[in-house]
Amino acid sequence: LKGILTHPSMFPLVCLLALAHVTSGAVEFSHATLYDIYDFAGEKEVPLPRCDNGCLIFASIQPSQHPYIDQLIVHDYTTGKDMSIQAISKMQQDSTSQKLPYELSVKGRYSILNLNDFLTPYIMMTDVAVYVVDRAYAQSVDYEIYDAGSMARANVVPKGVVTVMGARQMFVKADKGAANSFTARLTGFDNTADNNVDECTYAYKTQTFEGFEFHVNGPLISVVFDKKNLVAIQANYNWQNFRDLSKAGFIAPPGYNGCAKLNPAKVFRQLDNGFYGEEFDLHSTGKVSATWDIDCNVTQDLVIKDMTNSKRNTVTGVKKNAQIVTENTDFVTFFYSEATPPHGFVARHTPSRV
Ligand SMILES: *[C@@H]1O[C@H](CO)[C@@H](O)[C@H](O)[C@H]1NC(C)=O
Repeated sequence: LKGILTHPSMFPLVCLLALAHVTSGAVEFSHATLYDIYDFAGEKEVPLPRCDNGCLIFASIQPSQHPYIDQLIVHDYTTGKDMSIQAISKMQQDSTSQKLPYELSVKGRYSILNLNDFLTPYIMMTDVAVYVVDRAYAQSVDYEIYDAGSMARANVVPKGVVTVMGARQMFVKADKGAANSFTARLTGFDNTADNNVDECTYAYKTQTFEGFEFHVNGPLISVVFDKKNLVAIQANYNWQNFRDLSKAGFIAPPGYNGCAKLNPAKVFRQLDNGFYGEEFDLHSTGKVSATWDIDCNVTQDLVIKDMTNSKRNTVTGVKKNAQIVTENTDFVTFFYSEATPPHGFVARHTPSRV
């Protein structure tokens, strides 16, 4: 084993195992399960107990075509029917661009089979998100769901929940439109109510809708708008750590979902996006004041620094709705050096013109 672990050709596998061990296993919500590429790497079969009574399977991959994902197959043991995760990721309604699920409507035994070579190095893989929702529960929710890679939603009245799904970090934007208020969570459409079963906190919420720019470092975001007014929402994979300080937004580490009832060590993982620190630069044209509202459980400081006067604010430990205001500025940086699961945070920022 020592030889294998030090052989250069095995280095990618060693890195893979190292990251996989940071946190392991799919994210198990009460009504849904979320799988990432590490849940399939080196496995021959991943059973889908969530589908025992029927389920909806949504999948996203990035890039949109990949040989590794083509060999991940949803297998129905009763009928023998097979369907690839790649094919599922492409299923969508032409007229609306809404994602369509692969629906397993009868009780049965289902698995995802991995037909790839067990020793495939991680550089031969790509990011994937597989979101499996209990069928009966999904039928009780009024939702629309899109893929960050193909979303082309018209400026229409939102359903009860608007969910955007992607295989890796993504960008979701809404234009300021008719009056509204909304709450966004880093979950699928199964955990969006204020009293949601997994106690998932909000990534952002507001009573005055001025539009938003959300850089989402994970596979799911769901927005509940309170009014049935027209709203224009777009998404793509242009996640950046350059942000607009004059837009409502938030910062959270990779895969963070904020669900208090879940095992905080299990989060969605992306291939080349480890759990090390990150710096974010937030600029605006013209001075704004920004109010920061932070939930965290971290051992290292979260630092919010006003670059126009070098004033440094820090938050650490366990905090709920810690408030910091960066006043009359056009350049703020936010940085942290460590937030490895089970640690994590969400830092929401709200601008006001000065
Ligand atoms: C914070 O994280 C630690 C380490 O996982 C955990 O033991 C603790 O329960 C967490 N505290 C809260 C309030 O979530």
